[in-house]
Amino acid sequence: MFIVVATSRILSVIFSKIAKLFGAVFFFSWDATLALLNLIIPNYKPHAVVAAGSPGHGGLWPEYVPPKEGDSRCSCPALNALANHGILPHDGKNITFRQLEAKVREVYNFAPSFCWFVPNNIAGILDRDYKTDSFDLSDIDVHNGIEHDASLTREDAFFSKSQGKPSIPRIQKLLQSGTGPNGDLTTSDLSQLLGQARVESKRMNPQYSQAPNHKLFGSSNASTLLTIFGGKIDDIRPFLLEERIPTGWQPRILNRFGLTVLKFNQTVFKVELGIKEELSSEKKKLKRALANQGSGIGYNSI
Ligand SMILES: *[C@@H]1O[C@H](CO)[C@@H](O)[C@H](O)[C@H]1NC(C)=O
Ligand SMILES: *[C@@H]1O[C@H](CO)[C@@H](O)[C@H](O)[C@H]1NC(C)=O
Ligand SMILES: *[C@@H]1O[C@H](CO)[C@@H](O)[C@H](O)[C@H]1NC(C)=O
Repeated sequence: MFIVVATSRILSVIFSKIAKLFGAVFFFSWDATLALLNLIIPNYKPHAVVAAGSPGHGGLWPEYVPPKEGDSRCSCPALNALANHGILPHDGKNITFRQLEAKVREVYNFAPSFCWFVPNNIAGILDRDYKTDSFDLSDIDVHNGIEHDASLTREDAFFSKSQGKPSIPRIQKLLQSGTGPNGDLTTSDLSQLLGQARVESKRMNPQYSQAPNHKLFGSSNASTLLTIFGGKIDDIRPFLLEERIPTGWQPRILNRFGLTVLKFNQTVFKVELGIKEELSSEKKKLKRALANQGSGIGYNSI
């Protein structure tokens, strides 16, 4: 009897490991295929990335209405902007994970693989069912779940409970840091900003914490500004300060199948490894995490 129970337990563990592995292999093959197709199929024209019939086609975004009292908002400017334009429900409540997947894909031109991964990951962290459940935007602000310290756009949770509100001083600092043409943001600008934010948070915040996966998450946020927004300061200004998509805006990623995880990772690594403020011992830890992470939460930067 014992042998049967033990064997079946062991088998079920092995099967779930295999299933996970197959899941990961399937995911990365899917993503890599899309990356390859992107190389072959001609790009969208810069002013025609968002498809006909989707909000924002031709740069005409649905009306922007700032959040009202009682509306749910979160630490992520990209999701708040969708709600402010009514592309997600304006009150930010009762959003299904599938709805999130579809809208992020339509508006920001992330690859289907990316858009599948992120809501699944959020559902996992919130312990909800991806297929059937929904969430309010503020639900993602559970500290050190998705939300974490040393943000470029929010005060640390220790100082500010309302992660739904932009920190104007932090954003102003970011907006003034661009060293590219027209003050646009470069990879090294973002590495430097992230490094400073971590050092400052560590100094000021008695409850500061930053796990390796949250570091990667932070550099993923920054990488979104470099990829989807092309570092363009004139677009990033209203996007971060008002969480508004400017009229005429289109994603800067022109690939037919959008920004894949594979391509995005390259930017994330450049940003993260460019951070000089990091101690070398911490860098080692981080490199190990980069090497070990399966489909961890390193790169969901919505
Ligand atoms: C959430 O939306 C679903 C339909 O998408 C609806 O059936 C449900 O009643 C809503 N829940 C709340 C609390 O509004
Ligand atoms: C990245 O986004 C999360 C969730 O919106 C936020 O909590 C975090 O502070 C951001 N990180 C950085 C470095 O901006
Ligand atoms: C992207 O980076 C993560 C580490 O954060 C890694 O686990 C994953 O395999 C990478 N994905 C691809 C498609 O390169």
